[in-house]
Amino acid sequence: MVFFEWKEQYELGIPHIDLQHTMIVNMINELYMSLETREEEDTTSKILEKLLCYVEDHFASEEAAMRENNYPHQDAHLAAHDAFRVKVTRLHHTHRTGEKIAGYELSEFLKDWLLEHIAQVDKAFGVFVSQLSEKAKESFFRQNPDHPLSKNTESPLVF
Ligand SMILES: [Fe+2]
Repeated sequence: MVFFEWKEQYELGIPHIDLQHTMIVNMINELYMSLETREEEDTTSKILEKLLCYVEDHFASEEAAMRENNYPHQDAHLAAHDAFRVKVTRLHHTHRTGEKIAGYELSEFLKDWLLEHIAQVDKAFGVFVSQLSEKAKESFFRQNPDHPLSKNTESPLVF
């Protein structure tokens, strides 16, 4: 059984962020498997470090998307990312000092945190972005009422 199974319902509708989320899920599974198969401590540590680096890049990418779109709730979203960094740094430190249990605790924490964060915080940003796209379409049609792809036709305009 897969430790963390990705489901379509977790998608935000922002392709590059959805792809990054699936990559993170794969890495959490890789981390969990390395604990289950009792890999060398060094191997587990490398997986963990790769995962945490990727999460940092992912946060930077999400934060840039929020800035570009003038997302009004970005401060709260950034605070959630910061709280994650604090907690993970602590667990990572405990793991590095040789406590195997911290590895499992970390896998569970990463899974639970990501699921909740995607469902609540990231999803709200996804909805905001899709509403922006709808507004852009409406404004385009208002300015170009005679455009062949106007709302009255069968083929919707895709931005
Ligand atoms: Fe986020």
